[in-house]
Amino acid sequence: MKKLWKNCHIATMQDGQYSSIEDAGMVTLGQHIHWIGAFKDLPADAYSETIDLNGAWVTPGLIDCHTHSVFGGNRSVEFEKRLQGVSYAEIAASGGGIASTVRATREASEEQLLASALKRIRCLLKDGVTTIEIKSGYGLDYANERKMLRVIRQITDTLPMTVRSTCLAAHALPPEYKDQSDAYIEHICNEMLPKLHQEGLVDAVDAFCEYLAFSPAQVERLFKTAQSLNLPIKLHAEQLSSLGGSSLAARYQALSADHLEFMTEDDVKAMAAAGTVAVLLPGAFYFLRETQFPPLESLHQHGVRIALSSDLNPGTSPALSLRLMMNMGSTLFRLTPEQTLAGVTTHAAHALGLQATHGTLEVGKVADFIAWEIEHPSEIVYWLGGDLPKRIIQHGQEISI
Ligand code: NIG
Ligand code: FE
Repeated sequence: MKKLWKNCHIATMQDGQYSSIEDAGMVTLGQHIHWIGAFKDLPADAYSETIDLNGAWVTPGLIDCHTHSVFGGNRSVEFEKRLQGVSYAEIAASGGGIASTVRATREASEEQLLASALKRIRCLLKDGVTTIEIKSGYGLDYANERKMLRVIRQITDTLPMTVRSTCLAAHALPPEYKDQSDAYIEHICNEMLPKLHQEGLVDAVDAFCEYLAFSPAQVERLFKTAQSLNLPIKLHAEQLSSLGGSSLAARYQALSADHLEFMTEDDVKAMAAAGTVAVLLPGAFYFLRETQFPPLESLHQHGVRIALSSDLNPGTSPALSLRLMMNMGSTLFRLTPEQTLAGVTTHAAHALGLQATHGTLEVGKVADFIAWEIEHPSEIVYWLGGDLPKRIIQHGQEISI
């Protein structure tokens, strides 16, 4: 069943650039791209359907490669406190922060977690996101991490999106292991992770490497277990302080290291050499009113791929629009709109290990694309919020939004 999509311009995002084809056409066959090019070069063929895109700009479906979008409750009261001058670290130290979301998540049923997550993720889908990564990390024991990961798997069955699940059991210390962080890491490595993986619930492993979470030595212990299970790794690193987590991640060939405000030039070089993607999270930077910028110039200079993501979570980035994050990536981090768009397409695909199938529009790749009613691709980054008119195509099928 070949479908012809005509009367459009296409930003393929190959090589991290718009790589525009004006007056273009695309042919999809089932879930994949069969042909793409200038319309005048369209080979003569028979099509089961022809879809007129009315001069839209077509981009790959957006990829949100770092979210914590499954959680119980929310932390708006904490937000108020922070605005009165209490810091994120102080709130965490006094039993709030991640710990309060852990309590709410443990109390919630699978059904409740799924229902609240779907509301948030639908916002991202409507904004043009067709692939999303979702982390566990608010359960912090076997039963509750499993509950979160099961909910993440159910999202794949409910929404027309590709969903990758990441086990972030090493997000914070659960109350049961107070002052015993080494023992908790051992528990994750010996019990939780192997079991959760065996149940088919885990696509990657992540940890929070930070002075208020886990040390590089503890993270390394976890990475060794992930490696022995053949699971790809990612890391929250250098968000609040410089511990060399991003260099450690690079040494273990991590898919990505994320946040990175406090990374050093040596970290950048290590990531460049390993091909580890830098995932920047402007929503968390903005929401925590951070002043330390990730080293953009150095990342560019050493050729590190830069992805952008919403980090959707209740504490540091309650972000329901990836386009708004793209705007922040440009205004706060001075990425060009083209670099920003590459950051939520091709580079984000690399951050999830999905580059063979997702992230650019090329023959053989999955036909996930957005047809935007705009004059130029930079408009996707330019508008602040709102609902930009678009058509969303996932796996070769237009979805109604
Ligand atoms: O990516 N840094 C750690 N994890 C999240 C925050 C989680 C939370 O505060 O609930 C982040 O910013
Ligand atoms: Fe995060």
